Amino acid sequence: MASRIKTPLPQIAPDHGARHVAIIMDGNGRWAKKRLLPRIAGHRAGVDAVRRIARVARELGLECLTLYAFSSENWKRPAEEVSDLMGLLRHFIQADLEEFHANGVRLQVIGDYRVLEPSLVDLIEGAMTRTAGNDGPTIAIALNYGAQDELVRMAQTLARQVQAGEISADAIGRAQVEAALDTASLPPLDLLIRTSGELRLSNFMLWQAAYAELYFTDTLWPDFDGEALARALAAFKQRDRRFGGL
Ligand code: IPE
Ligand code: IPE
Ligand code: MG
Repeated sequence: MASRIKTPLPQIAPDHGARHVAIIMDGNGRWAKKRLLPRIAGHRAGVDAVRRIARVARELGLECLTLYAFSSENWKRPAEEVSDLMGLLRHFIQADLEEFHANGVRLQVIGDYRVLEPSLVDLIEGAMTRTAGNDGPTIAIALNYGAQDELVRMAQTLARQVQAGEISADAIGRAQVEAALDTASLPPLDLLIRTSGELRLSNFMLWQAAYAELYFTDTLWPDFDGEALARALAAFKQRDRRFGGL
């Protein structure tokens, strides 16, 4: 399989300063359409791209890579496509978990994955538990993730804590909000990439992206590779992050 062949990465020193990169992996359907293939073929090629990118995360000096795999809005797609995507996810975890583990990757999931099919939930939780003690990088997969849903769940968590008398409403600050988000255990987001030329966030990491650098590329997700990621990191390195200061 072509994706198994290791291609040398362009020279990008891991001093780019990005700890956490998140990617909106978009364009699988258009990749397939261009080749007159069914959409599922694009999703399969998308999984190969995930493998390639996951393999270079450490080499590129990343602490955390978050990948948007299925949004809380993607349930609107035809049932057959949803079921194909869930099948691919199941197969991906089953086939790749041991390689991730052997490479020290810590697998995390963000999003409301607990509503997925029970056997898939077990698989996901097993994968997180198996890799929890690894020293990284962390690969966080966003599954049934929507930032608005995450913020609603955060509000509920904090409201319950107030109701139970564990904290006072006045004690809620940014740290308490961040601790109640799905990304609580992940480093701050530095760079947000979207493939396929769409210029929107599609309900992804709205809180976390507050000061992230944004990078849009026309490359369709199945064509994205280590070199493309290195290019994005090189662009990130050129940015002047001011966080409101001078
Ligand atoms: C991204 O590719 C994968 C998911 C959203 C699951 P799309 O399936 O959105 O591909 P396009 O946007 O139709 O090309
Ligand atoms: C965003 O892509 C979600 C994922 C990549 C998982 P979509 O293809 O679902 O986004 P829209 O519908 O074009 O905004
Ligand atoms: Mg899309």
